[in-house]
Amino acid sequence: MELLNVALPKGRLGEKVLAIFEQAGFPCPSIHETSRKLIFENEAAQVRYFWVKPSDVAIYVERGAADIGVAGKDILLEYQPDIYELLDLGIGKCKMAVAAKKDFRDDPGRTLRVATKFSNIVQSYYLSKGRDIDIIHLNGSIELAPILGLSDVIVDIVETGATLRENNLTVLEDVVPISARLIANKASYKFKNTVIDNIVRCTAALLEEPK
Ligand code: PRP
Repeated sequence: MELLNVALPKGRLGEKVLAIFEQAGFPCPSIHETSRKLIFENEAAQVRYFWVKPSDVAIYVERGAADIGVAGKDILLEYQPDIYELLDLGIGKCKMAVAAKKDFRDDPGRTLRVATKFSNIVQSYYLSKGRDIDIIHLNGSIELAPILGLSDVIVDIVETGATLRENNLTVLEDVVPISARLIANKASYKFKNTVIDNIVRCTAALLEEPK
């Protein structure tokens, strides 16, 4: 029997995702043995899990190296991969927001300098508002940009708000709510439909149970 290839986002979110899949009836005992291995199989449950960088999950799934995976809505909006989004897992909840220094006063007549990891989301957000912007694409520690005068504002993920608070920044606008999504490769969804539908159904049922 062919195994279902499942790309899990490495890190805290991935641990939660794995716990959900295991409770939903797709356990994998070997994945809990501490090691540096990246791939784990359980023939009995017909699954093969592998850990990938969270921002790479959609690439594995889009290209069929993984049949299904879990990716943040932020990544899906930014890269628009050609995949099916099957289920909102309701975890990894946060929001994308515009933030700035507390004393920032916007001048709508001027081009706004925006630092972000999410250039495409930012582009369409400000296009819809008809605002002229200059995007400064960064790869991390976005909060530094307005502090050092590299940008006027940032568009970034806000979870607890602690990073903004501790750097004297404040949210100006919410852009979009974010959570983790179960995604599937389009061909896999067709050819492994029974097994994918089964994992989706079991996961959805588990999420609906009162906690
Ligand atoms: C994310 C995000 C913020 C922080 C928000 O950063 O870019 O910096 O988490 O979380 P908080 O509201 O709970 O403080 P991440 O840890 O992914 O690192 P990076 O963006 O700097 O790479």
